Amino acid sequence: MTKTLLMRPPRKGLFGRVQVPGDKSITHRGLLLGAIGSGTTRVEGFLAGQDCLASLRCVQALGAAVQRIDEATLLVEGRGLRGLTEPADVLDCGGSATTMRLLAGILAGHPFRSVLTGNESLRNRPMGRVCEPLRLMGARIGEGDGGHSPPLSIRGGRLRGVDYSMPVASAQVKSAILLAGLYAEGETIVREPHRSRDHTERMLVARGVELRREGDAIVLSPPGDLISRDVVIPGDLSSAAFFLAAAAIVPGSEVRVQDVGVNPTRTGLLALLTAMGADISLEEKRWVGGEPMADLVVRYRPLQGGTADGDLIPLLIDEVPLIAVIATQAQGITEVRGAAELRVKESDRISAIVAELRKMGAQIEEQLDGFVVEGPTPLEGAEVQSHDDHRVAMAMAIAGLAAGGETRVDGAECISDSFPGFEEALAKLTRE
Ligand code: S3P
Repeated sequence: MTKTLLMRPPRKGLFGRVQVPGDKSITHRGLLLGAIGSGTTRVEGFLAGQDCLASLRCVQALGAAVQRIDEATLLVEGRGLRGLTEPADVLDCGGSATTMRLLAGILAGHPFRSVLTGNESLRNRPMGRVCEPLRLMGARIGEGDGGHSPPLSIRGGRLRGVDYSMPVASAQVKSAILLAGLYAEGETIVREPHRSRDHTERMLVARGVELRREGDAIVLSPPGDLISRDVVIPGDLSSAAFFLAAAAIVPGSEVRVQDVGVNPTRTGLLALLTAMGADISLEEKRWVGGEPMADLVVRYRPLQGGTADGDLIPLLIDEVPLIAVIATQAQGITEVRGAAELRVKESDRISAIVAELRKMGAQIEEQLDGFVVEGPTPLEGAEVQSHDDHRVAMAMAIAGLAAGGETRVDGAECISDSFPGFEEALAKLTRE
């Protein structure tokens, strides 16, 4: 069913406190690691978005029972490291690349055949980047179009450790290799060109795996089994980002987003916004399940342009469409470079955000690996498209808060991929 969001600028800015749903990356990992753990894993703060529900169905199809206690709490019955069973049907990963890539790593170590597929968007995303290293480790993987995209047919079995240098910084690829490394003979070494989110590493260490970082390399020794550990999931910074950005660009705003994960491999947006002059503070910093968490408070203050490139890109990779929106309200030039990965996300996020923001009057130029924005521009309400991409849809909704008149965001149903309840949370902050 299609859905359109109607957005109008709030008369007095955004105010109040709000919570966001659980972190998407940690939810996927909680389910997948829970399924191969030696006992029961309680997952609290589970994100019931479409992407994570795909992971849930896949682990069930592989023999791990999952009991839903309430909206945000689950119990996953671990089958042990080598206890998953051959699925009766193809595994449908929906639109979730995280499900497909991480599961490919786990299934590479299981001696049966499985087929992973997904929706049209996922079937167009690159999978050679996980298949190549998994093949080097000994997995047999046939791919849909002779080398690059789903469906993936995997026959796992005995694996050997590799020393693999990833051509692109990707936490999904890194995680797939590390998960396969659990089943390999000898050490597995993954080298990343830029540091990416490290939730998998933290969770593996907490489950008894010998894993260490040496410079740009992560070295993993295969364990005998995987201890089960309960998971408490902090709020998703990539969801909180929309409200932080809104408060940073709508005059008069003051917003507190509570209980948000602030793992330093995820906080690139906070660093960029601070460099652009935003008033952001981290309050009540504490730890949950091996991850730092805090309340994030943003008070409106005029912004200047900024630059994101190099090592910063993986630390704000999912926030790039939103950065384009923020930049339209900042004084001067904002540049994002080195973000070509954006072209192979749920949509081509560079061309999508450039096309949609232009409809609202933004001064934005597309580059091969990013964009250049000149601001500030008074945005005009317009009819814009989500490109069936949740992050584009929410970024354009925030643009609508900073525009004159009404903005219609078509195709907004995809928001539930990562942020069910987005509209209600936003309404809470814009209520007058
Ligand atoms: C994710 C890693 C990132 C990110 C995605 C979630 C993860 O993808 O964009 O939303 O959970 O590991 P890449 O690994 O493709 O950069």
